[in-house]
Amino acid sequence: MLILESGAGNYIWSEGHQYSCFAGNNYLGLANHPKLVEAAIEGTKKYGLNFSASRQTTGTSEIHLELEKQLAGFKHRDDAVVFASGYLGNKILLHILRDEYDAIYADQSAHSSIPDGIPSDLSALYFYEHCNAADLESLIRKNKSKKPLVITDGIFALTGEIAPLDKIYPVVENNNGLLIVDDAHATGVLGKNGRGTPEYFDLGDAPRIFQTETMSKAIGVYGGFIASSNEITQRIREKSLVYGASTSLPPSLVTAATASIKLITEHPELRERMLLNSARIRAGFNELGFLTTNSCAPVIPILFSNQQNAADLSDFLKAHHIIAPFVNYPVKTVQSIVRITASAAHTDQQIDELLTVLEQWKNSWPERMQ
Ligand SMILES: Cc1ncc(COP(=O)(O)O)c(C=O)c1O
Repeated sequence: MLILESGAGNYIWSEGHQYSCFAGNNYLGLANHPKLVEAAIEGTKKYGLNFSASRQTTGTSEIHLELEKQLAGFKHRDDAVVFASGYLGNKILLHILRDEYDAIYADQSAHSSIPDGIPSDLSALYFYEHCNAADLESLIRKNKSKKPLVITDGIFALTGEIAPLDKIYPVVENNNGLLIVDDAHATGVLGKNGRGTPEYFDLGDAPRIFQTETMSKAIGVYGGFIASSNEITQRIREKSLVYGASTSLPPSLVTAATASIKLITEHPELRERMLLNSARIRAGFNELGFLTTNSCAPVIPILFSNQQNAADLSDFLKAHHIIAPFVNYPVKTVQSIVRITASAAHTDQQIDELLTVLEQWKNSWPERMQ
């Protein structure tokens, strides 16, 4: 395991060495941004480390309300609710929508927070083939009497594939269902305004689509949120035990996240830079002949059928002072993956160095590219 001796920037320190970092989810390079750090310090100075109560008792502060207002504005929704972590969002939403569906249809490669969030009283749970709207449709047809709720990642965490909502949503719509998109990796990344996968597919205002989102990736801070209609956010505040019975988000995170939303809104060039860097890296992999996915997302895997080759490439990169982990969790995948992520903070030189080292691997072991 890599032990960090620095923050998670585009360069990191570990065991006394500096590495160029293509790991993690710091897509917009905000995890160490001075303005966010300053906002966190100011929040701590004014409010301390913790409000030491749940939102419903005495843990709601003026800065929570301000953050929720900023998130609602960013997402173009009535309201937003923040809570302890993005992982919990699926559980919260599946719980408060429980009366509106009889069956859940989840993508086979959904992030572990999705199956983990399934209400315990639900017996009708089906997994459709990865990103396959036709398979989803045939499963729903076989269970016609049950009101469907479909749930999928927006951008898949390990492969960077984008769920085909243009095909999935019509199936949901034709069957009077609901759609939840876990947009942990797409918030601040996809869509004209960075509102995520529905916006990317021009479904930003489509009815019966919900998103679960996190502030721990592109936003650069920590904590989960759901932005939706007043009716839904009120339901969450009133009915969700996860929301109601856990301590509210710490002040430093709240003030930093508010600063981040402002920064993201005012600087769309950050998202453009991240997408350009992603495209350059992906094109470089394709040119070299490494196998990757076809996407614009900043998760750019190198896919191997041979697990040892994937693990060895990750070690080879580390020996050349580049961090790109061999990842085999939290989702089961057929292929072995070296998960490379692009950030707006990466320089052209860093990307050139990455591609040069990959070329060295290719020249040394042309038979070990897959
Ligand atoms: C698809 C997906 N959903 C949810 C989460 C959990 O988000 P958080 O780390 O903010 O709890 C992750 C984190 O990796 C994720 O990849």
